[in-house]
Amino acid sequence: MEIKDYLNKQRLLVEDAFDSYIPAASGDFRDHITAMRYSLEAGGKRVRPILCLAAATAIDGDVKTGDILPTACALECIHTYSLIHDDLPAMDNDDLRRGKATNHVLYGEAAAILAGDGLLTWAFDLLANQEHGNLSAEKRLRITHLIARAAGSYGMVGGQALDIKSENTRFPFSTLQTIHRSKTGALITASVLAGAVAAGANTTQTKALQHYGDQIGLAFQIVDDLLNATSTTEQLGKAAGSDAELGKATYPAYFGIEETKTKAKAAVEEAKNSLSEFDDKARPLRLLADYIFTRTH
Ligand code: IPE
Ligand code: IPE
Ligand code: MG
Ligand code: MG
Repeated sequence: MEIKDYLNKQRLLVEDAFDSYIPAASGDFRDHITAMRYSLEAGGKRVRPILCLAAATAIDGDVKTGDILPTACALECIHTYSLIHDDLPAMDNDDLRRGKATNHVLYGEAAAILAGDGLLTWAFDLLANQEHGNLSAEKRLRITHLIARAAGSYGMVGGQALDIKSENTRFPFSTLQTIHRSKTGALITASVLAGAVAAGANTTQTKALQHYGDQIGLAFQIVDDLLNATSTTEQLGKAAGSDAELGKATYPAYFGIEETKTKAKAAVEEAKNSLSEFDDKARPLRLLADYIFTRTH
């Protein structure tokens, strides 16, 4: 199985599921839902939901995809909301995302903020809604808690706050690491762990997957920094070179390009090492780790 084929297949699975889970743009809230759907349907690699599915498969090869998809889609809703807010003028002030105009450029700032709020809230609706999938209430509760923790003040939101605060300031390496682990790594680890919990992982498996998630999560943001510094806007579908312009806390700013590459690669290798006790059902997780290093957008 080629990683490209695997990613395509899983992406389509996730996107089909979205269509049934997210409300249609009609009725009184049509404009709001249109704005929500615009960013959700603008593309995106769907790395977080795919990691969630892959982690579930690594634990149980016969896991029912329909039981995992609501969680997988909830993760993508949270991620997409974070991008809409990340692009706002008060934050990174970007006008291109996923190769298209950013949400606020198209719909205005108020509608974009609300589209983000709507996606975040919808994620928790999906996680709690027992009409979707067949997870036990106990698993739902554990998954909801771990995702809430990763998305909030001790995770993505807290990391975003530190990222903004660190613009154009000198910061120690430990702060840079904290920013990357929280603004990006936390939700990636949660994606892996949510799939693992859904599929019934034991304590040893969960520990190994936590380490895998932490390492690929860190690698993911290091590579995002690298691409921002070395690629083009056309290739990325979002503004290249913006980190340096905004004086962001990044790995290339701290270590230069070559050392940054080495660090990203090392994190990916460590992630794969943490899967040493897993059998071939973890192959997608191994491929995904490599993909996170080799990705070009
Ligand atoms: C971009 O995430 C923002 C970060 C957290 C680094 P992705 O690279 O997963 O963006 P999409 O979802 O594919 O657009
Ligand atoms: C995004 O970080 C992290 C989020 C939580 C959205 P960046 O600001 O570095 O990501 P891009 O480069 O805009 O996608
Ligand atoms: Mg940002
Ligand atoms: Mg940004």
